[in-house]
Order: sequence, then C-alpha cells, then structure tokens
Amino acid sequence: MGWNHWNTFGCDPTEDIILQTAQALVDTGLNIVVDDCWHAESRDLDTGAPKEDLTKFPHGLKWLSDQLHTMGLKFGIYSSAGTFTCGGHFGSLGYEEIDAKTYAEWGVDYLKYDNCNNEGQSGTPKLSYDRFNKMREALKATGRPILYALCNWGEDQPWNWAGTIAHSWRISGDIHDASHEFSGFDPRCPCTSMLDCKLPGWHCSVTRIIDFAALLVAKIGSGRWNDMDMLEVGRGGMNQEEYSKSGAVVVTHFSMWAFLKSPLILGHDIRNTDNTTLEIITNEEIIAINQDTRAAQPVRKINRLLKSSAGEEDGTLSVWTVSLSTYPTNAIAVLNTGSETQSLTLEFAEIWSDAANLQNLTYDFVDLWQKNGSGKWGQSVGKFSQSFEVSVEPHQTKVFKVIAQS
Ligand code: GAL
Repeated sequence: MGWNHWNTFGCDPTEDIILQTAQALVDTGLNIVVDDCWHAESRDLDTGAPKEDLTKFPHGLKWLSDQLHTMGLKFGIYSSAGTFTCGGHFGSLGYEEIDAKTYAEWGVDYLKYDNCNNEGQSGTPKLSYDRFNKMREALKATGRPILYALCNWGEDQPWNWAGTIAHSWRISGDIHDASHEFSGFDPRCPCTSMLDCKLPGWHCSVTRIIDFAALLVAKIGSGRWNDMDMLEVGRGGMNQEEYSKSGAVVVTHFSMWAFLKSPLILGHDIRNTDNTTLEIITNEEIIAINQDTRAAQPVRKINRLLKSSAGEEDGTLSVWTVSLSTYPTNAIAVLNTGSETQSLTLEFAEIWSDAANLQNLTYDFVDLWQKNGSGKWGQSVGKFSQSFEVSVEPHQTKVFKVIAQS
C-alpha cells in the first residue's frame, strides 16, 4: 500500500510535493513512490551513476529518502528496463548494478521497473525474464531489502514467471481516469484478454482491468501479486455522475482492487483529499481483505452478461468469493457494471460449489459499505442460511464479510 505521484503530477514530481504528501500520509505508515521524471539530464559522466534533477529535488534523493524514513514512511523509486524511461529519461538497461547500488545508497525500499525502450528485448517470456532478472540480481547483490514491482504491462505474461523474481507485476496497460472509461472500451487499450495480448496500450477502464485480473487470480500468493495499476480514487474524473449518490464507482474501484489483492497505491493529490474519498480509502474492513495473511486467491463464481431494457449489452453482474484467515468466515463481493439496478439470490450451493462444508452454514452478513452504530464501516444485515437476496445499484459493488455461526 502506498502513494505514487504519476497519476496526478505526471512528469513534474518535486521535493515539496513529495514532502507535503508525506506529511499528509504520516500516520498511515504507507510507502511513497517517486515515479518517472526525477532524473537529471544525464547520468554522472565519470561514474555512470544515476543522478536526480536538483531543480525538482534541491536537497537530492538521499536527503528526501532520509526525511521520509524519519517520518516513518518507506521510499520508492522508478526506472525502466530500457535505454530510456517512458518519459524519455535515462533508463537502467545495461546499468543495472550501478543503479541498484545507488538506489540502495539512497535508501530506496521499492523499485517500480518499467518496460519502455527495451531495444527489442521482449516478445518472448524468456527475453523479458532475462532482462528483468538482471535488475533482480543487482538488487539482491546490494543486500538491502527492496520490494521489486515489475511494470511491463502484462507483456510476455509476467504472471507465469515474475513470481520467482519480483513481488508484483502489472497485468495491463495504464488505467485512465474518465467517467466514460469506467466500463468503456477504448481502442488505445485494445486487448480483450491479457492471456495473449500483444499491445497492452493505455486508457484501460476499471471494469476491463477487473476482467483481465479475473483470469489471473490463480497466479497470486503470499509475496507475489497481480498489480492492477495505481488507484484513480479521489481524482474525480470517474465519479462525477454518480459521486453524489454513493460514490459507487469509487467504491467499486477501491473494493475490487482490494478484493483481487492488487497493491493499493493511491494516485490522487493526497494533500487535498475530500471527505468522501477519505472515508472510502480508510475503510479498514475492505483493506483487511486486501492485506489478509491467508493470501488466498479470490474467485469469480458468477459472471452474468446483462442487457438493458432496450435489449443492448449492458455490463455484467458478477459474484466473487475469497477465503480469509478467519475461515470459515470469508468475504463475498457482488459487482454490477450495468446501468440498471440488479437483484440476485446468492445460493450458497452455487457460490461455494467447490466447498461443500461452507454451503450448509448459517452466516451473519456484514455489509462492509454500511456504517454500524459506532460509526465504523461494517453493519450486520441479518443471519442467513442457504441463500441471501442482494440488490446492487448501477456501477456499485457490495462487499460482505460473512461470519460463520457456530
Ligand atoms: C508507464 C507506466 C506508468 C508510469 C509511466 C511513467 O509505462 O505504466 O504507470 O510509470 O510509464 O512514464
């Protein structure tokens, strides 16, 4: 969990932005990632070591890292396994050792490692593995624990090989924050599935990334995660229409990223977080599902295509389950990406078709997006056996903790 400057500040990270954001995060213990564009014009011409832009970071990145550590935060940085980063700055291809060594000296705790300008060293899993493994070896050689986050947008199926060298891997082209993109298809994000995708692209919508992730959940486990990209929660583009109702889109985005065990990396201007966003991103019950130590793989148990009243294709109604360390107390998510309210009977025999022992229990259903009497998220909506009736508004996700009764 953490924050990354890219979604809001793009190629203009500065010392002030990072420190002010850190101050806003300080009680959370999250990690802060300085993404692309921290770079000086060139590396050190004598040693080849990476150098930071002293206009943006007047005290240097080592100093910034010390500040963040003093504040109790972790420090992440970005580079590309190519000759240049995506923003056109020097990349790490061929400079893995000196870059890793410098990052370790700077006190880096997390490296986001991108895929731009890779000089044709991709196109087969072996080529990508070898290129990304070089940095892994270099990081290991520094002796400093550095979380290694691959960002090759799902090219060459990293979920099949990155688990042995990295802690997370991006599974798609870049997410984009615009209301029509919540469930829209944008030709700039052309693939229908990531399993055989050659052009991950960008401008990928929330629901498309959820669909991509649905097929890859079996690849995750403790310390190896599908990265669904940074959150757009709180940025405003996706929620204009529905924000006033219940923040449905934002709730869906946050809930599904958490449920599918994606790293949760905020991307909005944290210094100006509105109250609704703050309430959503601090839902401890939802975060607990994401961080659950059982590290179980979520499963999409139902995925119904929806039609509008005019008979046109209109999203899906899906039901997801995940087991928790409190097993047989588990969690269920119901997601409606369509534009009309949907009702559904959750038959326990269907949603736990692969776990007979769960089907005949009685559960207290706790709605994690309703507040309880003490003002905290998580309100019981009653005890149920065999089945449960649920109604979900357009673009809404309901998440329940289902507490098994003895
Ligand atoms: C993209 C990456 C983004 C951001 C950007 C920086 O490749 O997917 O998340 O890091 O590069 O240039």
